[in-house]
Amino acid sequence: MSSTDLEAEMLSCRFADNNYLMKTIVKLKNIRFERNDRTILKDISWTIEQNQHWALLGANGSGKTSLLKIITGYEWPTEGSVQVLGRRYGKCNLRELRKHIGWVSIALENKLPENDSAVDIVASGFDASMGLFRDITENELNLAYDSLAMMNARNCSEQKFGILSQGERQRILIARALINRPSLLILDEPCVGLDPAAKVRFLDDLSRLASCSSAPVIVVVTHHIEEIDSWINFVMVLKNGEVLSSGLKNKVLTTDTLSRALDMDMLVEKEGLKYYIKPL
Ligand SMILES: Nc1ncnc2c1ncn2[C@@H]1O[C@H](COP(=O)(O)OP(=O)(O)OP(=O)(O)O)[C@@H](O)[C@H]1O
Ligand SMILES: [Mg+2]
Repeated sequence: MSSTDLEAEMLSCRFADNNYLMKTIVKLKNIRFERNDRTILKDISWTIEQNQHWALLGANGSGKTSLLKIITGYEWPTEGSVQVLGRRYGKCNLRELRKHIGWVSIALENKLPENDSAVDIVASGFDASMGLFRDITENELNLAYDSLAMMNARNCSEQKFGILSQGERQRILIARALINRPSLLILDEPCVGLDPAAKVRFLDDLSRLASCSSAPVIVVVTHHIEEIDSWINFVMVLKNGEVLSSGLKNKVLTTDTLSRALDMDMLVEKEGLKYYIKPL
């Protein structure tokens, strides 16, 4: 077995023991989301099945982060139903469920205590809490260090979260998101602030994780379609809070759809397995 296969196998074992594995991972039905007299999301239905990986695209302000906050239960829809990992929101223990959902987002970063050390932030992922509110075991501490090492951030472990650079904080959030072997991993612009080498390393790690037999279902928000790797097989595009297009990647990533999404004439090209976009 090559070292890459071995690593993939080890990752697969980390994600294997999980009774939150379901066939349907996310089921949103007719979601409407209003805040402060504004309609932010309109009539969104989205089903994500096991073995699917999705990219969520859309212009600034199109509603991507709002939709992810609804999936993670940090926002409540005005209308519609949310079911994640077989649990219906409103009828389940959200705090328990969140332990099975890894989430990386600026929206999350702002909720975490900036005076906590990086390793404590990572360990808070065990309880999916916004800070560490209990003594952790030695085993948990070691797992937190391992997760930091996996993200190449072991050297930041004792530093306060608030003083870390944007890219360092992003690695800490990813380490936190992975620590609980989530069944669903939601990454809202995960490459923001990563330097080019860190970005390539992170995308490679993500690709290896996605190729594990019992990898979490991954949903990635990005503005850079070249980051949509071959393992991402489905894409949803939002425009003004509505679904503009959703389905298999090759049907959705078209010149027409992305030009409409961005209100600008764009050209989408495919080279090998990668997609590229440029303004016309
Ligand atoms: N609590 C709120 N009250 C009023 N408007 C809100 C609220 N939360 C979000 N919005 C608005 O909803 C819209 C969608 O925001 P959201 O953060 O979901 O967009 P996004 O697609 O993630 O954008 P970006 O690509 O810039 O991250 C924005 O115009 C935002 O200003
Ligand atoms: Mg956003």
